[in-house]
Amino acid sequence: MLTVRAPATSANLGSGFDVFGLALDAPADVVRVERADETTIEVSGAGSQYIPEDPTQNTAGVVAAELDAPARICIDKGVRPASGLGSSAASAAAAAVALSELYDRGLTREELVHVAAEGEAVVSGAAHADNVAPAILGGFTIARDDGVTQVDASLPLVACLPDLVVSTRDARKVVPETVSMSEMVDTVGSAATLTVGMTRNDPELVGRGLEEAVVTPARADLITGYDAATTAASEAGATGVTVSGAGPGVLAICRSPDDRRAVASAMLDAFESHGVDARAYQTSIGQGAQIFR
Ligand code: HSE
Repeated sequence: MLTVRAPATSANLGSGFDVFGLALDAPADVVRVERADETTIEVSGAGSQYIPEDPTQNTAGVVAAELDAPARICIDKGVRPASGLGSSAASAAAAAVALSELYDRGLTREELVHVAAEGEAVVSGAAHADNVAPAILGGFTIARDDGVTQVDASLPLVACLPDLVVSTRDARKVVPETVSMSEMVDTVGSAATLTVGMTRNDPELVGRGLEEAVVTPARADLITGYDAATTAASEAGATGVTVSGAGPGVLAICRSPDDRRAVASAMLDAFESHGVDARAYQTSIGQGAQIFR
């Protein structure tokens, strides 16, 4: 038997739609596995009532099938589903790392990213690696079809989670099919700025590099109070704010750990003024899945 903790993640980071991702220090899913003749899944914790325990419908169950690693899998959810914080990816990542270790499959962490992405496909309809890559590797990741690049970045963050439901499928429907040349030029500039910022742990560059005018505005319309929360966070000292993944979570980059409290409080007040309950995680870029025996 062994236990793996895999973190929440924030995908896209504005300018890196379907490509960029980072691991959060918290919250996280904790997955316990033990060998069995056939796979069974039990889910407890945040939003567990919405998560299927049928192994063919659960990200962790699909991962077990991919690895030919039948197991009793117990998932303790710290990452609420449909939050924009990579809930299904956390479970898929933890299961991939745990089952590969349990069955001594000898796969590298990069290979496990692809296995976990197959689990993700069950819930999102497509095998995106932008959440599973940071959940497994930690830090900041650039996930492309031809491989993943990882940087051990370190920045203080606030992840604010309004009590709204936005499904990934719905949030993908509002993404425009085409972009103009000027939008592409702006997005490339932002993405490059953000990437350099991550290599330097520079919150100003990363904050500026979140800016993007195609996907984020379309999705912001699905999040009641988004504009107020981003304005409030910036006024409280955040260097940049964007939709976390497909939403409704909102991610703010901070200059110092001490700034997180004011930013979190400003975002919560802004959502509350729009009649939306929310919670905020004062966190940082964190490490990938960790094995506990
Ligand atoms: N890149 C994905 C999206 C993340 O924004 O739709 C959620 O799976």
